This record gives sequence, structure tokens and C-alpha cells, in this order.
Amino acid sequence: MTNKYMYFIANWKMFGVLNSLNSLHKVLKFLKTFKNNKSIKLIYCPPNTLIRPMTKKLKKSNIDVGAQNCHENEAYGAFTGSVNSKMLKSVGAKYVIIGHSENRQVGETNKLINNKIKSALKSGLKVIFCIGETLQEKRKRITKKVLNSQMKLGLNKIKNNKNILIAYEPVWSIGTGLIPKSEELYETINFIKKRMKNYKVLYGGSVNPKNINELKTITNIDGYLIGGASQDPKKFIDIIKKTYN
Ligand code: PGA
Repeated sequence: MTNKYMYFIANWKMFGVLNSLNSLHKVLKFLKTFKNNKSIKLIYCPPNTLIRPMTKKLKKSNIDVGAQNCHENEAYGAFTGSVNSKMLKSVGAKYVIIGHSENRQVGETNKLINNKIKSALKSGLKVIFCIGETLQEKRKRITKKVLNSQMKLGLNKIKNNKNILIAYEPVWSIGTGLIPKSEELYETINFIKKRMKNYKVLYGGSVNPKNINELKTITNIDGYLIGGASQDPKKFIDIIKKTYN
């Protein structure tokens, strides 16, 4: 049982159409009677196409909406298919996920991520900054080295830690059903927190209603970034409920 302030961030990835927003009713209804609702911050990060309608649906709640990525340019430009942080803010986003491994895997470098974070902060968005090692890196026992350079380069010349949440997401645990061993995860979160003082650090990777009982015993985690399970309101609610049970 915890009373700690926790973040629950739903990363919908490339899922969802307008009808998918109907599922939010269940979550809103649940929050009305949830006794720990002052201890939690819910943030939904849907595809860009749903940001505006979602902010409208959630207007009367204290759930925030965020985006899943942004272009690094603060100004408008000839970048076909891209959206920058200013544009995301204008449709109601308050947060943006940056550095997700699914984007790192298709070529996002630490330098690019650093530029994206700077531009998002300048536009007034809060940043959910993702870091994490691959399975290969874990096997080579270079997790800390990898995380260290992702943090050092990704947050280069950025001082604004109150507007950044760090999400530790081991790449091998995303969408696989695998999570790190509890002691290992505690130690990694501790390592991140020692390196990045005063930052909130979340965990992400296969968080679900089954493993939340184990995850919630890891006391230095400040919340969860939830992919697959966040699309199902029942599972998402279950995760929140169990965290406080
Ligand atoms: P998952 O995704 O919960 O489906 O593993 C987490 C994420 O990619 O943020």
C-alpha cells in the first residue's frame, strides 16, 4: 500500500480512431470515486490525430494530454509530415514523449533527441524523456554506460528538470511481457536518480495488471509509462487500483 504521488502515462502508440475515445468514460467514472485520486497524475499520449478531441473529452478532469514525439525545429518549415512542439501545444498537448526506443531504433540520435527536448521546453511543453538499454547491451553488461550517455547527451545544456520526467524503459521489456528483476530495477532507478538529482523517474515496459503487484514494491519508482495495457480501460484502471491496494 502506498500513498505516494505517482504518474500513470498512457502511450497509445499508433493505435486509435475517434471512436477509441469512448473508452475514456470508464476511466473518468473510476476516478470520481477513487479515494487516492489526489495522489495520481494521469497523462494520455494518443496519436496526434486524437489530441484535440481528447483534450475536449477530458476538459473537466485533471487528466492531461501529451504527444508521442515532435520535430526538433521550433519554427515552421518545409518538413513534410512533421509536427513541431508549438503546433502540439496549440491543440492542447501539455506533454510530449521524446526519445522513445521505437524512434531511436529508426534513427533518432541522442543529439537529435537533445534538440527536440530543447524545442519542446521552449514551447512550454513538459517532456517525458525515455532512456533504456537493448538486450544486447544488457548482455554485454553496459546498461549503466548506455543510460549514462543517453542522459548526458540527451539532456546536454538543459537545466530545467522540473519540466522533465525520465522514463526508464529497457528496450527488451517493451511489448514482450518481460520486466527486470526487482532488485535490478531498484538499482537502475537509483543509479538514474543519483546521476540526475531531483528528477522524477518512471518505469516503462510491459506494465500490466499482473506484474503491477511486483512493480509497486519498488519504492523509488515515481510512476509508469504504459503502452499496450493503457489502451484497455479495464487494464489501465486495474493497474492504478492495484498500485494503491
Ligand atoms: P508496453 O509499451 O507497455 O506495451 O511494453 C511501453 C512503451 O513503449 O512505452
